[in-house]
Amino acid sequence: MSSASLSSRHLLGIKSLTEEDITLIFETADNFKQVINRPIKKVPSLRDVTVANLFFENSTRTKISFELAEKRLSADVVNFSASGSSVGKGETLLDTVNNILSMKVDMVVMRHPAPGASVFLSKHINANIINAGDGTHEHPTQALLDAYSIRERLGSLKGKKIAIIGDILHSRVALSNIFCLQKLGAKVKVCGPPTLIPKYITQLGVEVSYDIGNTLKWCDVANVLRIQLERQDIKYIPSLREYALHFGVQPEHLNQLDKEIIIMHPGPMNRGVEISSEVADSEHAIILDQVENGVAIRMAVLYLLASEKAK
Ligand code: CP
Repeated sequence: MSSASLSSRHLLGIKSLTEEDITLIFETADNFKQVINRPIKKVPSLRDVTVANLFFENSTRTKISFELAEKRLSADVVNFSASGSSVGKGETLLDTVNNILSMKVDMVVMRHPAPGASVFLSKHINANIINAGDGTHEHPTQALLDAYSIRERLGSLKGKKIAIIGDILHSRVALSNIFCLQKLGAKVKVCGPPTLIPKYITQLGVEVSYDIGNTLKWCDVANVLRIQLERQDIKYIPSLREYALHFGVQPEHLNQLDKEIIIMHPGPMNRGVEISSEVADSEHAIILDQVENGVAIRMAVLYLLASEKAK
């Protein structure tokens, strides 16, 4: 394994990573992907390192993926979920985390509904912080595993055309993907109903389309996002049925193309809304490869941040 290190001791977002950081994470993940496909899937790299997974918001993939990554690296792992904790009794985020850190925790993986929560923590505590999704802001390890999965299929991302389709307005996956893909030289187009596309998104250097057919014709890869009803206090679309009719990816869309494109989805999927079951289960889709790659990417991030601490 290389002795190179990341430019930061935390992973708070993709915005603050360099292209070299991303390449180092990918090269490290290549090694860990081999490890997790061996009969003995465990290495001692994080022995004597204690990691706390703090989830203040629901998760299936990210939570399991981080825990598996930590255990494959031989870390000691503690899991915290806000539901059933003393958060419900009025304890602040900082008090909760400081209490956990008093038990000698070295690294914190945190998902929180408030944008900037992990940045806040990084300014107040000494442990390495990994942002596992902060509200509508960033989800850096998701973007890394998405870009890694594209690289695995297409080689370099330079010049590749990536469409992000769906609820861009509420999506931390969209923002982290835009930063990551652009740093790696890809062209990004976002597509969705006008109400779900942020007004100033073109300032990030992305193109905007409201036409799913044309967007799918343009792209090499379509990353399909779900409608985040849990973050919507007003109605942005008339109904899910109407959304599915105008922006759901259907087999007919793919049949009309004169080329093969890759379909991605970060999960959780709403089958029959943003993506039909036929498309989600088709040979075009690499959705479960993304999940597999997530473990290798998270092992790489944990390993690189822990190595930085050890210096
Ligand atoms: N992709 C993703 O973040 O999924 P979870 O919310 O299940 O972790």
